[in-house]
Amino acid sequence: MKRKWASTKRPDHSRKPHVVIIGGGRVGQTLGRLLSDQGYVIDSVVCRTSPAARAAQRFTRARRASSLISADLFPSAQIVFITTPDARIARTSLLLSRLAVDWNGKIIFHTSGALSSRELAALSAKGARVASLHPLQTFPSPIEGVKRVRGIFYTFEGDPGTEAMARKLVRELDGRLVKIRARDKPLYHCAGTFACGGLLAPLSVAYELYGKIGIREKTARAMLKPLVNATVELAQNSDLRKTITGPISRGDAVSIAGHIRALAEVAPQFETLYKFLSLRMLELVGASIPREMSRMIKRLLA
Ligand SMILES: NC(=O)c1ccc[n+]([C@@H]2O[C@H](COP(=O)([O-])OP(=O)(O)OC[C@H]3O[C@@H](n4cnc5c(N)ncnc54)[C@H](OP(=O)(O)O)[C@@H]3O)[C@@H](O)[C@H]2O)c1
Repeated sequence: MKRKWASTKRPDHSRKPHVVIIGGGRVGQTLGRLLSDQGYVIDSVVCRTSPAARAAQRFTRARRASSLISADLFPSAQIVFITTPDARIARTSLLLSRLAVDWNGKIIFHTSGALSSRELAALSAKGARVASLHPLQTFPSPIEGVKRVRGIFYTFEGDPGTEAMARKLVRELDGRLVKIRARDKPLYHCAGTFACGGLLAPLSVAYELYGKIGIREKTARAMLKPLVNATVELAQNSDLRKTITGPISRGDAVSIAGHIRALAEVAPQFETLYKFLSLRMLELVGASIPREMSRMIKRLLA
């Protein structure tokens, strides 16, 4: 059976740069597979264990799998992706910089959203050109990743000498490149966290509250799916302030008081979260509800 992520493209390995991937996890495998589809040669993929490296090799069609970082991985590599967890990037950069490798002219990217290219200072000191190139997408697995990267944004910052290559890679991955300042990365990443896992936290509360009235999570997911999908879709295509519905947007203090009473009785641990989120919604609806209603709701949420 043909797998969903199987590419129909025939890679042209004749002219494209050679790539090494250090950290063949969710992002490393996704990028490796897509670059391989585009004709890039994935020279090696490195993981901590041999089984993981071999699995990553199969997925990315790398020539070699390794559980060790050694100089012989790099002779023909022009691009190195460090796709280890954030906490390992600087250490990996240091390890690489100590190898007997001529780093001059090689381009090193890491893919962290929160960290800047400064994590790669050790390699930069050895002549490599370094940058961060963050794919703004969620990668729960390489298979899901491959399905969801078309059209995404990649944020770039680092050595200007890497920009042309970053643009070329992003173009070939069907993405769009946006430049960012190193100092803005933590806030940029924080925003992404609100837009990704941050959306799921209140949703998990909704499932749990349904559980309190005897609705199982599977049913809760099905029941809430049309509501969640419509909300996200509308929010993406129009002004958030005009998208909000529900008691806050109607100035319905009676319903809000009822919610707070119900939470206090059955799930008091969510009362603070409810109040925080409601205050934010109140800010968003702003002057569209009468000032007196707004004041009354604020008192309830205080
Ligand atoms: N996942 C996302 O949604 C996402 C989205 C955008 C950007 N990012 C960024 O992309 C990077 C990778 O994230 P990820 O989610 O792909 O991580 P991941 O799935 O946990 O994969 C990390 C990979 O690094 C390997 N590794 C760990 N320590 C290593 C070391 N010291 N030397 C060599 N390899 C090492 C692991 O090896 P084993 O397989 O043997 O454990 C694994 O293959 C991070 O900077 C992250 O912030 C992630």
